[in-house]
Amino acid sequence: MPGIILVGTQWGDEGKGKITDILTEDMDYVVRYQGGNNAGHTVVNGEQELKLHLIPSGIFYEHVIPIIADGVVVDPKVLLSEIDTLEKEGISTEKLLVSSSAHLIMPYHRILDAAVEHNLGDNKIGTTKKGVGPAYADKISRVGIRMQDILHMKIFQQKLKDVLTTKNELLTKIYNLPPLDFNDIVEEYGTYAKRLRSYITDTPLIINQALDAGKRVLFEGAQGTLLDIDHGTYPFVTSSSPVAGGACTGAGVGPVRIKEVIGIVKAYITRVGAGPFPTEQDNETGEAMREIGVEYGTTTGRSRRCGWLDIPILRYAIAINGLTGLVMTKLDVLSKFAEIRLCTSYSFAGKSYSYFPPDQNVVHKCRPVYEMLPGWQSDISAARTMEELPQAAKDYIARISELTGLPFNIVSVGPKRKETISLKRI
Ligand code: GDP
Ligand code: IMO
Ligand code: MG
Repeated sequence: MPGIILVGTQWGDEGKGKITDILTEDMDYVVRYQGGNNAGHTVVNGEQELKLHLIPSGIFYEHVIPIIADGVVVDPKVLLSEIDTLEKEGISTEKLLVSSSAHLIMPYHRILDAAVEHNLGDNKIGTTKKGVGPAYADKISRVGIRMQDILHMKIFQQKLKDVLTTKNELLTKIYNLPPLDFNDIVEEYGTYAKRLRSYITDTPLIINQALDAGKRVLFEGAQGTLLDIDHGTYPFVTSSSPVAGGACTGAGVGPVRIKEVIGIVKAYITRVGAGPFPTEQDNETGEAMREIGVEYGTTTGRSRRCGWLDIPILRYAIAINGLTGLVMTKLDVLSKFAEIRLCTSYSFAGKSYSYFPPDQNVVHKCRPVYEMLPGWQSDISAARTMEELPQAAKDYIARISELTGLPFNIVSVGPKRKETISLKRI
């Protein structure tokens, strides 16, 4: 009954899409458990590069059942356009299942996401403006509309009528925006309902039955540990639970069914949007990381902020998620650097922090303490075993394991499937 969770250990974009895709070969089910189309997962499938926002990155294998679980917020327009894109590329989406309990992103969620950000001015979060935060807010406020509601348009209309009255008051009176038309939304979502009906089902039952039958289920996290609503750099976070615990609530499985929790560690760190970032390199080093690593947002096209790997963050991610193994991605991006820095602790007001602290004041103002390691300055993208890596690259990986106490199962040296060093089977 092995359940395996894959999570980002940073602020997202760690390369989860590529690693999910390669692990899927050995899986029976791949489950997205939280987030929405704020996620952008790039998968290079042969020569084809595909960007997924909602559909699990395990879609490319015929033997796998991809599932969008209860904890995800689904924009049906985006889901259908993703289904169409995949089908056009010859990738079947026939087996895709969507939870009847997943909440819908509605037109007013997208508009309010942008309006709230606009009003925050300099204090804005830098959201993806996809309506994810407002959709989760409605879910928690118990005025959300769910996938199952579009299967019964009468219920959908009833729920929409109640909620739209309040939303239109908000739009017109607070944000000075035009109101939304009830009939337009009913018509639009009615069209989506016709196409989505066959995908909507009881996914927790299916996942639990699969685990009972000894099937391998991979739970694919979106975003990352530091974007978690409870454990991230609040308020500069997303509105869901990307951490491992979120897989249990989001998919409807008990914690004892999880055998492994794998943390994806980019060889350096990136962040999109606002918020603290102790090892950020707002300089030539960061620019070099951005250019070599092509660090531009998959969802919004924004430049990603770049910085050195941060061990206090990694130690925190290991604890918060209960990680059992690590995967390093984008090691090849560091190949150009003569010297590589590794942040081993933070220093603030005469105190040293070797573990990411909850105090936002410390995180915003601390000074990262670095250890310098020699670079390898050679192309490593052809390496398929650890022996083929230069000594300095091996030392970098070994030092991270030494500082965190966890081994690496996989080291990724390029975006393609084959550009991978497998060390320990997951
Ligand atoms: P995700 O959100 O965690 O799935 O990550 P993204 O897909 O947003 O960003 C990761 C980017 O790095 C994608 O463009 C991947 O194709 C690419 N990528 C993944 N692994 C590697 C790697 O080992 N080396 C390089 N150079 N690129 C990689
Ligand atoms: P993947 O799955 C990186 C960030 C946004 C913003 C904050 C809140 O590709 O790793 P939201 O729209 O979620 O309310 O925005 O979270 N963010 C991400 N950053 N990768 C992501 O997903 C992200 N999803 C949201 O930039 O700072
Ligand atoms: Mg991404």
